[in-house]
Amino acid sequence: MSTAGYPQWHPDAAQTLIAPIVASAPGPVLLCLQAVQSHFGYVPADAVGLVADACNVSRADVHGVVTFYADLRDAPPPAIPVRLCAAEACQAVGGRQLKADWTALCQSDTALAALTGTDEPIFCLGNCALGPAALVDGELLGCADVRRLQDAVIRAQAAGESA
Ligand code: FES
Repeated sequence: MSTAGYPQWHPDAAQTLIAPIVASAPGPVLLCLQAVQSHFGYVPADAVGLVADACNVSRADVHGVVTFYADLRDAPPPAIPVRLCAAEACQAVGGRQLKADWTALCQSDTALAALTGTDEPIFCLGNCALGPAALVDGELLGCADVRRLQDAVIRAQAAGESA
């Protein structure tokens, strides 16, 4: 799943996405934000006011939801996002070392860092038995190490180029 192919933000498209959600679900702020992010790859600042108006809540309420949930992004995602599990089970089997190694690699390889973005920690991918776990462009990796992360990035790049 490449994240580079999201359409540009457009309020009319966002309105079309959230109108049926608002009409069918009570308290749909989170559902609207998830729909916007699913379509555009992130929740632009303009979407906050749009969702607030549609759901009849304040912008501060919507902003609070955006900032509370770590999975909601307020900026476009990198082309191939890499997220390392930072929860306890993965930490116990090398997750901290993996993060340190990956960070060091990205600091020495600016092209890789630009491609994968800053690691945004994620807390448990449901793959604890095969930790440390990671997500590379949506692909779940177990027993992750730097080499496996690099290989997954290369696969995601190749899939994006052939699409
Ligand atoms: S703690 Fe990392 S996958 Fe569960």
